[in-house]
Parts: sequence; C-alpha cells; structure tokens
Amino acid sequence: MINDVNPAISAVSFPKELRSSGEICVNNVSKSYGAGQFTKEVVQDCSFTIERNKLTVMIGPSGCGKSTLIRLLAGFEAPTTGSMTLNDKPITKPGRDRLVVFQESALFPWMTTYDNIMFGPRARGEDTQQARDLAEFLLHKVGLTAFRKKYPPQLSGGMQRRAELARAMINNPEVMILDEPFRGLDAMSKELMWEYYAGLFDESRRTSFFVTTDIDEAIFLADRLLIMTNIPARVRATLEIDVPRPRRLVDMVNCERANEVKMEALALLHEEAMKSFSGGSKAAADFVEAYAKRAHKAEVAQ
Ligand SMILES: Nc1ncnc2c1ncn2[C@@H]1O[C@H](COP(=O)(O)OP(=O)(O)O)[C@@H](O)[C@H]1O
Ligand SMILES: [Mg+2]
Repeated sequence: MINDVNPAISAVSFPKELRSSGEICVNNVSKSYGAGQFTKEVVQDCSFTIERNKLTVMIGPSGCGKSTLIRLLAGFEAPTTGSMTLNDKPITKPGRDRLVVFQESALFPWMTTYDNIMFGPRARGEDTQQARDLAEFLLHKVGLTAFRKKYPPQLSGGMQRRAELARAMINNPEVMILDEPFRGLDAMSKELMWEYYAGLFDESRRTSFFVTTDIDEAIFLADRLLIMTNIPARVRATLEIDVPRPRRLVDMVNCERANEVKMEALALLHEEAMKSFSGGSKAAADFVEAYAKRAHKAEVAQ
C-alpha cells in the first residue's frame, strides 16, 4: 500500500522563489461565440477580483461558462467586451504569470515525475542548481520523492494530480488557476487532495483561483466563494468563508459557519440550476438532482 502521509502540512515553508502572489481584476467582461442570429453569450458583464494571497473558489452549474472564463484569464482567448488585469497590467496573451491546471492530466507520459516537474525550467533553458533544488523541495512537498523515477501511468490518480501541482508551482506563477483539478478522482483521493492542496496553499499563500462544481470542495478550500449564475455566467453572490486556516476536514463537518455558508450557497445554486432545468438541459437536471441530495444530507446532519 502506498504511504499517503501528508508532507505538505509540515514545518518547512516555501522558499521565496516559490511565493509570488499577484492580484487579478475582471472588469465587466463578456464573451460571445458565433455571429448574427447564431450568437451565443457565454459570459455576461462579469466582474470580480481574485485577491492577493487568497484562495478564491468559483462554483456554478455545469456548462455555465466557468472554463470559458478561465480561457480568458489564461489569455488563450480575448473577451468580446470588458477587460482583465494582473497586477494592474492588462491580460492580452498567455503568460507564465498565470498557470492553469486542468482536470485532464497534462503530464507527459514519456517523462518521469522528476522530468515532468523540471519541464518548465528546462524549456526556459534554466536547468540550474537552484531549479533542481526547487524540484527536490516540491517533490518532497507533494510526497513523491520515492516516485521521482516513475512514469505517469505508474502513479495513482492522486499522485498524478500532485505531480501536476508541483510541475505548475516550480514556475512560480503570480496566480495559480485550477479548473476542476480533482474531478474524476474517487471520493477518498479527492478528500485527501483537498487537505493536500489546502496545505500547499497555506504554506505558499500564492493567489489561487479554483473552479469547481463540488460544494464541499468549495467550502473546505475557499477564503472567498464566487457563486455563478446559470449561463451566461455572472457572479450571483460572493461569500466570505471566514473559517480559520489551517483547516481539517474533520473540523469542517461540525463548523457552524461552514454549514451556514453551505446552505446559503446551495440555495443560490439550486435556483440557478432550476433556471437551466426549465430550459430542458440534461446537465442541469443531473445537477439539480445531485444538489438536492446533498442539501438533504446537510439538513439531516444538522
Ligand atoms: N468556442 C465555443 N463556441 C461556441 N460555444 C462555446 C465555445 N466554448 C464554449 N461554448 C459554450 O459555452 C458554454 C459554457 O461552457 P464552459 O465554459 O465549458 O462551461 P463550464 O466550464 O462552466 O462547464 C457551453 O454551453 C458551450 O457550449
Ligand atoms: Mg468547465
């Protein structure tokens, strides 16, 4: 059995080379696809801030436009109207200052864990002692020192996600952007990843933007929770999750404030999902069903 202890929650904290932390402002951003009568508005007059040193989580119904917003933030696409800035400078193209970790594994299957983590520095011609030290540090932080020579298919799903976090973090982005990164993991691995990721965040305090459809994941991780409308995406509400860090899952279950925010968030999400449900969307129907179950569970638990 693989030893899955959590070295992310340890006394050693991140060196300054791994602690960049910027701030993103999204101002009245809209995004449409197509033209004329085929125009589809996916993001509509959306404004929010991804505050420095905070973990901002965005939650919204499936298909509401979250990944579209991420492609805009990453600079892969441009908004139709509105603007976005990172540290007051306009975002116009992709950059190493904003790294996106996707749900799909981006690890190269033909490279070892170590080589995958070193990919960014090497691609920039920076295979320096400093980069190698940072790779060692991160390997340890994500608990993969013993798996440095393994290839991605030889790692469990959770280990692959951790390797991917290390591979992103070595590039020291100003903001880490994560698009449903733990989707597809089994429930147990997922909960382990929440604690893992929260531990890494607590130590680095790097500005993070985490997108999810999972309410428990959102509440456990977030300093601030942005609740999105159904498509076209806008921010419906912002909830501050003022529960002290570091957090442990066992404590969150009985945390009154966390449960309060959860009920509030579920009520809003349910309303948004119902809107698309009345439009006949299968994804929305699944969403309503899943959330109704969770809301019921939360009520029973109280
Ligand atoms: N390039 C595109 N052209 C047309 N429609 C798109 C394009 N990209 C996304 N969409 C539409 O935008 C909607 C939102 O997609 P997405 O941002 O992936 O949602 P989410 O990540 O919240 O599930 C979908 O209905 C999708 O069909
Ligand atoms: Mg998406």
